[in-house]
Amino acid sequence: MIRSLEPELMDSPEITGAVLDKFHRDLDFVNRLLGTFPTIERLIRAGDRPVRRVIDIGCGGGALLEHLRRRLGVEVIGIDRKPPDHALDRANVPIIAADAVTERLPEADVAVCCLTAHHLTPEQNIELIRNVGRSCPRFILHDLIRSRLPFVLFTVFLCPLIGREAAVDGRQSIRRAFTPEEFRELVRTALAGTQGAFSTDVSRFRSRQIVDIRY
Ligand SMILES: C[S@@+](CC[C@H](N)C(=O)[O-])C[C@H]1O[C@@H](n2cnc3c(N)ncnc32)[C@H](O)[C@@H]1O
Repeated sequence: MIRSLEPELMDSPEITGAVLDKFHRDLDFVNRLLGTFPTIERLIRAGDRPVRRVIDIGCGGGALLEHLRRRLGVEVIGIDRKPPDHALDRANVPIIAADAVTERLPEADVAVCCLTAHHLTPEQNIELIRNVGRSCPRFILHDLIRSRLPFVLFTVFLCPLIGREAAVDGRQSIRRAFTPEEFRELVRTALAGTQGAFSTDVSRFRSRQIVDIRY
């Protein structure tokens, strides 16, 4: 599949309020089916340093942070350039409205980032990885994989269970996502000339990939 650069509905300035909230609820549902939250929790627990504060880049509604705060007892801060409306904020975690590629980020022991890398260009991902390295010693990136198998599985099994807009965006997300080879290459470029190192993991059925960076 060739990488599509068509924008997603979710990124449109017109998607706000209750419609954005429905996107966040559908994303939580997809993350729960993919097992995203326990996977990130396990990776953080397996780290060799104590973790007191976690930031989430592109945190959306903040459900992952709510999970990590409850399960790990850590302080959490979300960063999103389009945070949920205050009145519809169900996770009740602090969220800073900012562009994580260009703006200074709060210091933390671990930064996580789920289903967000495909919203960015390769150059923005490289800048994001460098920017996170200025305030965190570890960065766990989780995202989809551009590949036929997850595209077909998502279309057949998940689209009927979520809202129409999220279904359209989900299919577009897979078209916009990086292959594991492309993702590795841009992480290598971001870390070139530094002490940084990383490991990667691709799940069964290519439903997601994880890059775990230590700066
Ligand atoms: C598909 S959503 C994922 C939300 C959440 N991480 C999840 O897994 O449910 C992508 C999120 O990234 C945010 N985002 C995209 N580019 C960003 C940037 N440069 N800085 C901060 N947030 C960004 C969007 O506003 C959106 O909330």
